Amino acid sequence: MLIRNHHVDFGSPLLPEDAEILSIPAAAEVERMLSRRDDHRETPLHSLPALAAELGVGALFVKDEGHRLGLGSFKALGGSYAVIRLVLEAARKRTGRNVDVDDLAHPDIRAVAREMTFGCATDGNHGRSVAMGAQLVGAKSVIFVHQGVSRKRIEAIAQYGAEIVRVEGTYDDSVEFAAKVCGERGWTVVSDTSWPGYEHIPGLVMQGYTALLCEALREMVAPPTHVFVQAGVGGIAAATAGHLALRYGKDRPRFVVVEPARAACLLETAKAGHPVKVAHGEPTVMAMLECYEPSLVAWRILSRVACAFMTVDEEDAVSIMNRLARPTGADPAIVAGESGGVGLAGLVTVAGDANMRATLGLDASSRILVINTEGATDPERYEELVGLPASAVAGTLSVERV
Ligand SMILES: Cc1ncc(COP(=O)(O)O)c(C=O)c1O
Repeated sequence: MLIRNHHVDFGSPLLPEDAEILSIPAAAEVERMLSRRDDHRETPLHSLPALAAELGVGALFVKDEGHRLGLGSFKALGGSYAVIRLVLEAARKRTGRNVDVDDLAHPDIRAVAREMTFGCATDGNHGRSVAMGAQLVGAKSVIFVHQGVSRKRIEAIAQYGAEIVRVEGTYDDSVEFAAKVCGERGWTVVSDTSWPGYEHIPGLVMQGYTALLCEALREMVAPPTHVFVQAGVGGIAAATAGHLALRYGKDRPRFVVVEPARAACLLETAKAGHPVKVAHGEPTVMAMLECYEPSLVAWRILSRVACAFMTVDEEDAVSIMNRLARPTGADPAIVAGESGGVGLAGLVTVAGDANMRATLGLDASSRILVINTEGATDPERYEELVGLPASAVAGTLSVERV
């Protein structure tokens, strides 16, 4: 299903506070902070000419976040960045000095960090990022996981020294519980979703994501005409769409939000014209996108700048993982986890439907950008769905690059 954005705010500028979060100078500052990290490398931007030709578009680019900061997903950019920024904010307040990222190793700044505990709920990737950020600065982290989070994903979080708290129910239940417990204990909640009265920290998380877009746009000879990004609570979609709107104004690319049909909270919100919580149905294979309520800030941005909202089915997500693992022609092999290729699955759906193509103005001159938001963050699940270990697919990739 695809619906156009008919919201009354569609086409109006971002609110000043949202424009500030996603501005070009803010994104440049994220990149500056990232450049100070030993583990930072820009992630690859792959061109897929064979798939582009098959889909009847001019060019297709995949920004591959499976390689981000050793975490395997774009989420590495958000939670860990927010934790660092929050420690710097606390240290500035405590010392009265203008503390910068280069000062994080100073004993008095480490002492500030040591007293801080960061908590969050997660489907897997965000919690890993918060735990990594906390470990990096010498703070504590407590990560709340719901029943659907796999053992492998929990182990990957615990590896960064996080205390794990298991919560009955869904992702949304874990968000609520994390906020309650952190509030009671005086811990800082670093959530990737926002709600009334809680916007600053999710804004920082979204700001962290903008770095990937800066990298991708620098590498592209011409800006994209269309961008398809998958959504859970909408943070990555809003960060991308909002930054593009600020950078290109009325010449911005057409932006499409893609969700699992089983957890389409943004599409339902767009239909209703205001944030709605959708009913829980069967779990989706797109585990990281299984969110039933949109982020308030994300919706505020997307209602202004997203052209359309669409859903894909379970088999579309699995099919795109397999297609990326076994490419044709000159296309490189790409390891995409269950939620990684969903934006691209949206493009494949649109490309095969004459009405949707016309709605979005997709044709042989279109240049598409999508984000592979994760690699095989759950390697066992990846092998089950693709029939190959991720290492075998990644092996193809390194051969192709040589
Ligand atoms: C791999 C992956 N892709 C996409 C998303 C969706 O991001 P958001 O919740 O900001 O919409 C997530 C969220 O955890 C994710 O882990």
